Order: sequence, then structure tokens, then C-alpha cells
Amino acid sequence: MLQIIKNANILNQQGELERKTIVIDEGKIQKIAGVEDEAVLTAEQSAHNVTDASGKLVIPGLIDMHVHLREPGFEHKETIETGARSAAQGGFTTIACMPNTRPVTDNADVVKLVLDKAKEADLVKVLPYAAITKNELGRELTDFAALKEAGAIGFTDDGVGVQNAQMMKDAMSLAASMDMPVIAHCEDDSLVVGGYVTEGEFSKRHGIKGIPNESEAIHVGRDILLAEATGVHYHVCHVSTEQSVRLIRLAKSIGIKVTAEVCPHHLVLSDEDIPGMDANWKMNPPLRSPRDVQACIEGLLDGTLDMIVTDHAPHSEEEKAKGMELAPFGIVGFETAFPLLYTKFVETGLWSLDFLVKRMTADPARVFRLDTGKLEEGAPADITMIDLNQEQAVDPANFATKGRNTPFTGWKLKGWPVQTWVDGKSVWNNTVQQ
Ligand code: DOR
Ligand code: ZN
Ligand code: ZN
Repeated sequence: MLQIIKNANILNQQGELERKTIVIDEGKIQKIAGVEDEAVLTAEQSAHNVTDASGKLVIPGLIDMHVHLREPGFEHKETIETGARSAAQGGFTTIACMPNTRPVTDNADVVKLVLDKAKEADLVKVLPYAAITKNELGRELTDFAALKEAGAIGFTDDGVGVQNAQMMKDAMSLAASMDMPVIAHCEDDSLVVGGYVTEGEFSKRHGIKGIPNESEAIHVGRDILLAEATGVHYHVCHVSTEQSVRLIRLAKSIGIKVTAEVCPHHLVLSDEDIPGMDANWKMNPPLRSPRDVQACIEGLLDGTLDMIVTDHAPHSEEEKAKGMELAPFGIVGFETAFPLLYTKFVETGLWSLDFLVKRMTADPARVFRLDTGKLEEGAPADITMIDLNQEQAVDPANFATKGRNTPFTGWKLKGWPVQTWVDGKSVWNNTVQQ
């Protein structure tokens, strides 16, 4: 079934925009041709489906290597179906989901359930992570071999840090022997005790306990040493502090196999932006100081931080209504990520469009060895079309996710995804409404 996307503005090897025709067949990009290409013009006659992308940007489907889909166990917050729909609406075609569900993804049955539900939803590609320790309790390693066999792509106790260094070292040795990555939520519990915002201006002003930067960085430092000792591919989750960036930069410079991710909210917001005791501004790691934000931006610019992930973490309105202190950590991320970063960094001239797109496509694909993330002949037709000129205020009522927990409500953003294809199949299409 031949499909064509014509007049597509794509980013070429040089990172410049070029107008091309994309021919899709059997779920793959068969050809990327010049707009005058004779063979393609002929093919257009017989194509089953032709999309005119005039005036739109066409990029590889976005990849998000850190998301929470909540199923099994917390279906009131999100299901794999609603999460996948939200991802598609945000322009994502591949997402990797965290194991802090109920039950925890700590055995092969849960991995299989996630994969089955994703297949049933038939929207975006869902890659499951499995837990490092049973129930994410930090006491006993899971069965790595069985989890890998079932389809897990890496091991992580995201949501909590692995407190015991020997446990982490054992996990890394085992993962290394199986050529699997260890992905770490870095947080030393002994340094946190009850904080729910960063230790800094906001916490001082409100007279509340804060989460210090060291609680993250101390795990990053420890784990880098353990990664060096074991040779594992170690990936640091949601880097939020200057100290972590510094440690990762050093580790990379001496050849330790470490990679890292950063979230949009840690690039755009600091604790000084928090308007008050509103739980839509509560996430873990918390919003840090402007100095940390700057360090994260610099880390991304110089390649210390490899990729952008959302840490999409939906919660119900009732849960978030409990207020800053009692509400769970987390904000939704799929549907605001691209427009937010495009508006804040590309429209303002701070980053090139190519830079932003690569950090959300080719780089996660490179780090996690995925066969997608690039528009090239022979690659899966995972494609996102974006209207860079469409300006719209963020309205959670329009979200496909069940979560409404975002600090970006009302923000006027440009660069909204308008259509998403996964293996050539359209999974989100907003073009008709324009
Ligand atoms: O903000 C967060 N939300 N941080 C985490 O570590 C966990 C996540 C969640 O599961 O809600
Ligand atoms: Zn986390
Ligand atoms: Zn997370």
C-alpha cells in the first residue's frame, strides 16, 4: 500500500530545511525524493494515500525514553491506551515505560502484559523497562535474564533510588554481562527526608524543608564509579543539578560508558517560577535553581546530556488537589514537550531546529540502539508532521492523557504536532480541523 507525503520540509544532513517527497510502502520509508522526481510523480498517481505537507515540518517520530503509563494498577491515572494516544498526539512514535506500576514490572508476566496492551492499543511503539529490584524495594535483584527474554529493554527502579551500593554494583555487573543498560533515578533517601521542593529560594521563603542537590548528585557520582568498575552502560534519569552535569561531563571525558537525559521542565522552569503551593509544580527531581537550569542547558548543548525525555507522570485531579505537601510527584509531558521547547529555545534563536529534533529522535535512538529516529530510506515510517506557525495556548482539556497535571496551562506555544505516523499508519491526525 503505497503512501506519499509530498511537499515535506525535512531537515537534511546539514540540518537545513529541504523540500522532499516521502514515499512509504509496507510501513517503511521506501524513498525520499526531490519534489520533481519523475518516478515519484508517477507513483503518486497510484498511491493509496497522499498527504500534502506544504508549509509543515516533517521529522522522524519523536522518541521518549522515560514515561509512566500507570498500567497495570493505576488505571485511574492513565492506561497504556490513553498514554499511547497522548504520546501520538504529542508527536511521539516510540516511548519507553517505567516499571513502577502495581504490580511492579519485576517479572516476565508484567512485561508481557505491557507489551500485549500496547499491541492492542496499536498506536505507538511501547518499550518496557523492568525493575532492578523486586517491588522496587531495593532488597533483592529481579530475574534479569527472564525479563530480558520477555522483552524488557533495560533495568531501572525509577521512582526511587537504589540505596544500597552493593546492590547497584551487582545489578550493573549482571546487566553488563547481558549487554543491557542500567537506568537510574538518582536519589539518596538519607538526604531527602520529607522534602517536596528543592532546597533553595522557594523552600526558604515558605519555611519548608527542601531536597538538596547532593541527594541526586551523590548517586550519580557513586554510580559512575560503579559503572567504571563493571563496564555497564549506565544511563542517568532526569538530570536536574549542576553537580550531576559536572560529574557526567567528567565521566564521559575519561571514557566511562555513561549517558544521560534531561526533561523539558528542568530546562524551562526553576524554583523561582513556582507560583505558590500548587501541586502541578511538584515533581521529582524538583525544579531547581536558575543556576542549575543553566547548567542543564549547557550540558545538553555540549553533549554531556544526550537526550530530552518527558518523564510523563500523570496523576488524577483528586490526588493533585491534595496540595503541594501531600500530592504525588509528577507532571504530564507528552503533549507540551515539543511546542514548549520549540517556542522557548528555537523561536528565540538559542538552538537550531536541527539540534532540538536530534535530541528527541536520533540521539535516544543512538543511545538505546533503536532502528528508528531518522528519516532515511529503509527505516520504519515513524514520522511526525509539525505546524511551526500554529500558535495555541496549552489547554489540558484538549489532552489525550488522563492527567491534567501540568504547570504550563495557558502558555502560548508554537510548533504543535498535527499528524503522526507509526510504521506508516496514521495514529494522530489534526490536519482536518484546520
Ligand atoms: O515526578 C515523578 N513522578 N518522579 C518520579 O520519580 C516518579 C514519577 C511518578 O511515577 O509519578
Ligand atoms: Zn525518576
Ligand atoms: Zn520517572
